[in-house]
Amino acid sequence: MKHYLASTPDNLAWPTSASIEHCEIADDGAVVVRWDDQQLSRFHPLWLRDNCACNICLHAFTREHLTDLLDLPLDIKADKVKLDADGALVVSWQLDSHVGVFNPGWLFAHSGLPQGQNSQEQCSEPLLWTASDLPEPLSFNAVDEQVSDELLLEVLLAVERTGLARIRNAGSSRDTIEALGLRVGPVRETHFARIFDVISLADGDSNAYTSERLSAHTDIPTREAPPGLQVLHCLVAEAQGGESTMTDGYKIAADLAEQFPQDFTILSTVKWCFANRGGDTDYRWQAPIINVDSDGKVFELRLLPFSRAPLMTDYENVEPVYRALQRFMTMANSPEYQMNYKFAAGDIVIFDNRRILHGREEFFPQSGDRELRGLYLDRDDMHSKIRMHTNQRNRQAAGLEV
Ligand code: OGA
Ligand code: ZN
Ligand code: ZN
Repeated sequence: MKHYLASTPDNLAWPTSASIEHCEIADDGAVVVRWDDQQLSRFHPLWLRDNCACNICLHAFTREHLTDLLDLPLDIKADKVKLDADGALVVSWQLDSHVGVFNPGWLFAHSGLPQGQNSQEQCSEPLLWTASDLPEPLSFNAVDEQVSDELLLEVLLAVERTGLARIRNAGSSRDTIEALGLRVGPVRETHFARIFDVISLADGDSNAYTSERLSAHTDIPTREAPPGLQVLHCLVAEAQGGESTMTDGYKIAADLAEQFPQDFTILSTVKWCFANRGGDTDYRWQAPIINVDSDGKVFELRLLPFSRAPLMTDYENVEPVYRALQRFMTMANSPEYQMNYKFAAGDIVIFDNRRILHGREEFFPQSGDRELRGLYLDRDDMHSKIRMHTNQRNRQAAGLEV
């Protein structure tokens, strides 16, 4: 890995295994770079001009653009290109007398070449699992009930990859969950309590606050933007029953798409409505159960079967839609896909509420107490934390100021 010192538009460290061997301007105006593994990249002069990282183009502290997008001439041409003594690409533009220096690590990451890092995301790809791949959440031990920064990073990386992780031996203090959550990001408040107690209540506003079994679900698809992460801390685990269940919704969606493509199409297009109608609120939102982005990638599951509102669809769709949903729920609640394990006091489980379908078995309050405390966070805060740590590590490795 090499580290180049030329600044980058994002001010991140971009270690790269590729160096630029040669650069030239092609007949059509493209800036062509030959990497040391002989692969070629073509960069558009307009794109390069827009991404110039000099102090005139970018504010040194905010790392936001000072140039107006509307001032970029669409027909801008590169005048000269060369490599400087550090191996960075130097471009000057015609009619503009402007010079930009491009860090090869950053350039390679944005080249679109398969070995380049995913420049925009820098997130690890999800690792899809069944219950035999992952019978329990990846687990990490607190030391003296404390979670170090390094351990928290490992936990978040596991959540990013597998959708969930468990911290064990974190003690039973009622304050622990909020302190831990705030190290990732602000608590994502909802119409439930900011920090909620999952205990059996006679007058709760959700089945979660009874001792009933909860089938595989995601929380709060009754809102336009359901919380991205859920954290549950077990304080007391004396009751019989109440085993936790977790299913990788991305894996079920992928298998459904392969085995029952018609059902996948139905679940990713027909909208269901889920509604929270307890207490004095009325939250409801309609969206497909499987949500797919414009690249065809599943990015979100929304399913709260016990909070369903009437399906509104054409007469001839009713039976196929229920059939598709039953197929999906059968998979989500099957031992093949669903892990089943019991909380111990001091366990904290963090999971992606828009990927993982969670649930629990019925528990028996007469046999002992069961008490969880929970809160929500957003996925963005986890991704930001991971990027900051990764960048810090890269900068340290590059010998740059941290
Ligand atoms: C919830 C929930 C799981 C549990 O509170 O939404 O799913 O184990 N709880 O009680
Ligand atoms: Zn510039
Ligand atoms: Zn829940």
